Amino acid sequence: AVPVTTLLQRPAAIIGSPDRARHAKIPLPADLYRPERTNSRGIEFGERAALIKLLAEIAASKPDMHKIVDANAEQANAAVTAACTGFASWSRTPAEDRAAILDNAAGLLEQRRASFIALLQQEGGKTLDDALSEVREAIDFCRYYAAQGRKQFGTGQTMLGPTGESNVLSMRGRGVFVAISPWNFPLAIFLGQVSTALMAGNAVIAKPAEQTPRIAAQAVRLLHEAGVPTSALHLIQGDGRIGAALVEHPAIAGVVFTGSTEVARSINRALAGKDGPIVPLIAETGGINAMIVDATALPEQVADDVVMSAFRSAGQRCSALRLLLVQDDVADRMIEMIVGAAEELKLGDPSDPATHIGPVIDAEAKQKLDTHIARMTTEARVHFAGTAPAGNFVAPHIFELASARQLTEEVFGPILHVARYRAADFDKVLQDIADTGYGLTLGVHSRIDDMVERVIARLPVGNVYVNRNMIGAVVGVQPFGGFGLSGTGPKAGGPHYLARFATEQTVTINT
Ligand code: NAD
Ligand code: ALA
Repeated sequence: AVPVTTLLQRPAAIIGSPDRARHAKIPLPADLYRPERTNSRGIEFGERAALIKLLAEIAASKPDMHKIVDANAEQANAAVTAACTGFASWSRTPAEDRAAILDNAAGLLEQRRASFIALLQQEGGKTLDDALSEVREAIDFCRYYAAQGRKQFGTGQTMLGPTGESNVLSMRGRGVFVAISPWNFPLAIFLGQVSTALMAGNAVIAKPAEQTPRIAAQAVRLLHEAGVPTSALHLIQGDGRIGAALVEHPAIAGVVFTGSTEVARSINRALAGKDGPIVPLIAETGGINAMIVDATALPEQVADDVVMSAFRSAGQRCSALRLLLVQDDVADRMIEMIVGAAEELKLGDPSDPATHIGPVIDAEAKQKLDTHIARMTTEARVHFAGTAPAGNFVAPHIFELASARQLTEEVFGPILHVARYRAADFDKVLQDIADTGYGLTLGVHSRIDDMVERVIARLPVGNVYVNRNMIGAVVGVQPFGGFGLSGTGPKAGGPHYLARFATEQTVTINT
């Protein structure tokens, strides 16, 4: 039997609270777009069982794992040249047709959901729930940008003007967009970037993470099959060196990047140093994401939300909780409950449906995390140190810091840092969070509305989650993206995102 109500899958309703119910009743946008159930917690038992059976069949059939060859600089150049030609016709393809192609892609993804889940498990180490949510998110991105594209790129907008003159504002593609993506959402972020750039009328050179090339290859095949011309979408495999070469190319018109802050900075410098047209960068990067828990919070709900936010996906989400700030009056009780919940987590083979936490992405990531754990073990108080099986596994850890300021960089794994605060020092807590310079996600658990409002007003953070977990932003529901060191600000899965990939043109005609 498949466990459907383990800690990480428990439906929100049964751990609800009056405030949670209030937030849950916010209506979903009902106009053009109805999001998929992106969160796997709502999955029907029968559907889950059928999927598990299909996945076993796929695993038994030994799927094709042919060799991926990295592109060289010459091939990257040729791809940009071909994309420039592709842009000429793709940018003139009516927005309705581009949107219809993205809808086709969403339909194909739905049909091949099980194969993509299997690939996400094999290449990305994703658990069933994570892989399922990711495929849903990818489908959502395609449908959402198709719907937004129809609205925003369809007919131009007629502006007010004097008699005898027509003024029309329209949106069009910029040219060749380079889309550079990370390994942690190798399907959803990859397709999110590519589908937006295509919908806006750009030709695209997609450069996926070197750790997850097969998922990207399958996604590009699917887009071509859905109707994207091969001249308008090119896949360039390879590591950061080929990414850097693409960024340097004189013919590109835009870059969308999701990954580390350090690489975003280097891309920004490269673009700024180029001659010729000014090339925009859309960057979505990391965070030292905090959650503030005051003495009025519900301990059971906090424990559930902390464990979900810090440890789901082995902490390999940019949105994941890294720093928990707990009011000292309730800290012992809260930490005890969080440790209790963390103890229930099962690490292991991601293809086992009962697994909560799979491996981290590779040996290099494991080594970096192990080094951090070793340092914290001597510098902090250890509340929990789980045990990991052999392989690239990192067990959840919970460390208590003497001060929040001890955490100075994003630690991309299942490691939670906790610091206590006194109510009288609350302003200092907010200052500590602001001083990290990051602004991606923030959690707040409190029953005091004034306190919540104060935090929201004071901290420049892209996504704030109140009295719930702080991961798993849903396309079209929680537009996602951060400020400061966390990115240039555009919100993926939001109504303004597409416009950032486009130029606007005003045509004035003396009639
Ligand atoms: P990374 O920055 O190492 O790599 C991201 C991509 O950039 C890869 O495709 C890589 O090959 C490429 N790259 C590396 N050096 C380059 C260079 N000099 N020029 C051009 N491209 C280059 O990041 P990662 O390890 O793949 O992903 C994890 C990071 O991504 C974390 O910091 C995480 O917080 C962040 N992330 C952010 C978001 C978000 O939406 N804000 C989402 C997911 C991940
Ligand atoms: N969009 C992803 C999340 O919210 C990164 O967890």
